[in-house]
Order: sequence, then structure tokens, then C-alpha cells
Amino acid sequence: MKHAVMFGSFCLIMAGLASTGAQAAEATRASFGHTADGQNVEIVTLTNSRGVQARVMSYGASLQSLLVPDRDGHLADVVLGYDDLQGYLDRRQYFGATVGRYANRIAHGSFTLDGKHYQLTRNEGPNSLHGGNQGFDQKVWQVVEVKQGPNASVTLQYISKDGDQGYPGTLTVKATYQLSEDNQLKIAYVATTDKPTIVNLSNHTYWNLAGEGGGTVMDQVLTIPGEAITTVDAASIPDGHIVPVAGTPYDFRAGKPIGRDIRDGSSQQLLFGHGYDMNWVVSSKEVESHMVARVQDPHSGRVMSLWSSKPGLQFYSGNFLDGTTVGKQHHIYRQGDAFVLEPQLFPDTPNRPAFGSARLAPGETYRNTIVYRFATDGGRVVTH
Ligand code: BGC
Repeated sequence: MKHAVMFGSFCLIMAGLASTGAQAAEATRASFGHTADGQNVEIVTLTNSRGVQARVMSYGASLQSLLVPDRDGHLADVVLGYDDLQGYLDRRQYFGATVGRYANRIAHGSFTLDGKHYQLTRNEGPNSLHGGNQGFDQKVWQVVEVKQGPNASVTLQYISKDGDQGYPGTLTVKATYQLSEDNQLKIAYVATTDKPTIVNLSNHTYWNLAGEGGGTVMDQVLTIPGEAITTVDAASIPDGHIVPVAGTPYDFRAGKPIGRDIRDGSSQQLLFGHGYDMNWVVSSKEVESHMVARVQDPHSGRVMSLWSSKPGLQFYSGNFLDGTTVGKQHHIYRQGDAFVLEPQLFPDTPNRPAFGSARLAPGETYRNTIVYRFATDGGRVVTH
């Protein structure tokens, strides 16, 4: 039995427990405030029977908080951000955000598609980052569906008009966040267009498995199975080279603390990025969903694994958190207080045919499904 989803400032949706036999799971929907131009921003809370709770807000289709148990069952919010909407409006910084229309960088904010040149808005010197000046992270998405039950979910939609930030074609984007009873959070991005365009969507959550405000993530153990990175220039634009990680600070294949090699000044890429901020080649092309990263916090025992089908994974070690942001619970966020893992196409793919294609044509469907699986380590160091 399903109850109709109600629209309004607040409603509670309980699972159809009688028919599923599942334990309690619920989704609640409320207002999270208004933008300066009066748009209502909603927040949907998904809770499973183990107490894992995801809050998703319609400003930027963002993960606003996520409560996850440690090895003793204590819950902590493992994502950085703000307690209220005003924080996000004042200083966005992509906390929890859906990034697009093109996640990551496009050199000179320009590209050629089907022989036509397009100029995007440029928001990082001469280049375009995460969709330009007004990327999807700053748009109010519409909540189009809330589902209750053991896999409670919320679907948000944003229609990006032809010419938005310079991109061709009207792009209809949906983002579905689904929380399962076995502590998996899945984000499924789907997009269609009415004219050929380019698209690359990802999620930009800043994670700290010790809990946001819990200090540095440098001792959290990261595994990335990727055997190479796409190297960049001083402006973090790919230089076209794909370089093996073996014998470099970028080798996370066997798992190591994030901070172990981060001060290796012999590596120019670390200097360019002020730390880790590069794209790992986790597959040569789009493949079946597989594990592209795993992180373990040795103190709390929280373990997160990240699953994706995309060929690239941007790993950014929170290098530009500089102690000037006051986030949730009045916590000051400092350099290295979080990591970001973004499954996506390689940066600047629209200008580098060797990297593949970001083209989406009418009749095709773009998809990026990211799965975050949470577990605890029972006190063991988990590297695989
Ligand atoms: C980029 C960083 C950038 C950050 C902004 C990441 O995806 O790789 O260079 O500073 O986003 O939060």
C-alpha cells in the first residue's frame, strides 16, 4: 500500500509496512527556507530502520547531511555543510551539491560540437568549473517524487534551458537519492536533451568519516584501484597525458592514509593542486558499476565504499578549505578536513577526443549512478 505524496510545507510519509513486511522507514518533507528571490527550498529526510538518515535539499539537489553509525553504533553526520539554507546561499563551495552541466573543468570555457563553437560562462580565471557561474549547484530543483518504504527515495528535477551558461539544448535532469535498509545511499542522475549537447554530472559531497567538524581526514585510509591519473597544468586543466600511478604519491591501489604522501614536494601535481586534486582513470571506458574507492576511518571504524560505472574519479583533499568557513554546529573547516570523490568523465573531455565523448543527443539518455555503501570495520584495518 502506498500513500499519496502530499505537497506543502510539511508532511510525513510512512512506509507501506503491511504489504512489504519491512521495518520502519520513512521520508519527511519540509521547507528549508527561501532564496533571495523568494523560491521555496525543500528538504526531504530519508531514514532507515538502523537510524541512518540522509537529508536532501532542493537547492543544488544536495546531500545536506548524512548520519552514519560508527563501530559502536554511534551516529555522526559525515558530510560537511551548513545547518541552514542561508549558509549555502552565502558561501556555496559545492557542499553536498550536484555539479553540472559539466562537472570539473572545461579549458577556456569553450568547446566545439558538431562543428559549432560554444562559449560558456567562466568562473575560474579563463576556464569553466562545475557548470560555470550559475551551475546546477545553485539552482532550486523541483521535488517531483518522494517514495516511502524500505528503499525510501526522493527524485528532484531541474530543466536547464537552451543556452543556460552557454550550453546548447534544453537539458532535463533528474537526481534520485535512495536510502536502503542495508545502509546504501544511491544517487542516480538521468538527463535527456532536445538538441545535441554535452553533459557530465556528479556529486560534490565533502566527506569526513569521523564526522563533520571532527578534524583532519589525513589519517583516513583511502583505496583507489585506478592505475593512472590524467595529469594537469598549473590551472588544473588536463595536459593530455595519462600517467601510471606506480611509484608516485598517487598510488592508492593498496590503500594508504590520505596524508601519507601529500607533502611530497617532488611531485608537481601535488603543488598545482595544493594537495590531491586530480582525476584517476578507474576504467578505460564506461563499464558495469564497480568499486572505485573505499575509505576507512581507523578511529570510528566507519567504512565507505563508492561504486560507479564512469571512467574517471576526481579525488580532491579539501585543499581550499582555508579556515574561513564556519559550517554546521559552528565548526570551522580547515584545509584537509574533508575529502571529495567525484565519479565522472575525465575533465575537459569536450576538448580532448582521446578522453572519450561527453556528447548527448536527442533520444539518448545520460546516466550516472553513484552508490555509497556504509559499513564498520570491527577494529580491523580494511584496505581492499
Ligand atoms: C575541484 C577543485 C575545486 C573544488 C571546489 C573540485 O571538484 O577538483 O579544484 O577547488 O571542486 O570545491
